[in-house]
Amino acid sequence: METLDLRVRIGALELQNPVLTASGTFGYAKEFEPFLNLNRLGGIIVKGISLEPRAGNPPPRIVETACGMLNAIGLENVGIERFISEKMPYLRTLTAPLIVNILGDSLDDYRELARRLDEVPGISGIEVNISCPNVKKGGVAFGAVPEMAAAVTAVVRGATRLPLIVKLSPNVTDITVMAKAVEAAGADAVSLINTLIGMAINAETRKPRLANIIGGLSGPAVKPIALRMVWQTAQAVQIPVIGIGGISTADDAVEFFLAGATAVQVGTANFYDPSAAEKIVAGLEEYLQRHNEERISTLIGALDTGGK
Ligand SMILES: Cc1cc2nc3c(=O)[nH]c(=O)nc-3n(C[C@H](O)[C@H](O)[C@H](O)COP(=O)(O)O)c2cc1C
Repeated sequence: METLDLRVRIGALELQNPVLTASGTFGYAKEFEPFLNLNRLGGIIVKGISLEPRAGNPPPRIVETACGMLNAIGLENVGIERFISEKMPYLRTLTAPLIVNILGDSLDDYRELARRLDEVPGISGIEVNISCPNVKKGGVAFGAVPEMAAAVTAVVRGATRLPLIVKLSPNVTDITVMAKAVEAAGADAVSLINTLIGMAINAETRKPRLANIIGGLSGPAVKPIALRMVWQTAQAVQIPVIGIGGISTADDAVEFFLAGATAVQVGTANFYDPSAAEKIVAGLEEYLQRHNEERISTLIGALDTGGK
């Protein structure tokens, strides 16, 4: 096979390959420079940024669970000012597209973040984390109510021309309802899943293992749920779906493409193998060769359900 074509399109954004890093698991990218060639990645998504810096939750904030981990980092981040002045100069030197993940407590926060980022050179897209409480609406997560998810999407859409990815929470009854709501409000793509809310208890001490008591579950343990949600969502919307959840090998990524994902994000795997994302890119090339395929795009939605 002469040339392999791993390119995919997320709205107006063309990626050289469909492998991105998941927000909160890849720092601000520079931390991973010793471990992989950042420019081999399809895209880099950095830690969620809020208007003001956040200290996050007290420790312990991470606990290992069967085939996964629970985290309650509490969205610690440097805030938009320091992100632009301290992190962007390095990120701008990379050729891999940079997608900035944002989070807020109110619609005004999201609007302001999008407006600020729209003016910053070197940003290829915005991913909106809607799994955060709306403090003006009694702390219900934006991502739990279709009207609130649509409202966040609409204010961000109105504040930036950048490609807009809305990251969906799996902690809902029907994720396709949320996907359709944000699609109608102007999202260019949806990414899913964020972490599933869980908890861990130490039987000996009778105490919670996380200081925050509850936290977000991620890693291979969540992959079957993520796959199911991606599969259902891909059938419900016209916009591209980006699959996230327990992806640590090229085969995992292929499963998400077959379920209908156009691209994938690698999260928890970065913690135990910081070069995982680059290995997945190489593994996808090898998969295409082995299956005599030229283009990754032929895999998207190609699940053979035997007519079901
Ligand atoms: C330690 C940690 C921090 C995270 N921080 C964020 C964040 O700031 N914003 C966000 O949208 N998702 C965040 N996530 C969720 C991941 O991006 C991803 O959606 C989730 O972990 C599922 O993928 P995985 O199983 O490959 O880790 C975080 C996950 C972990 C484990």
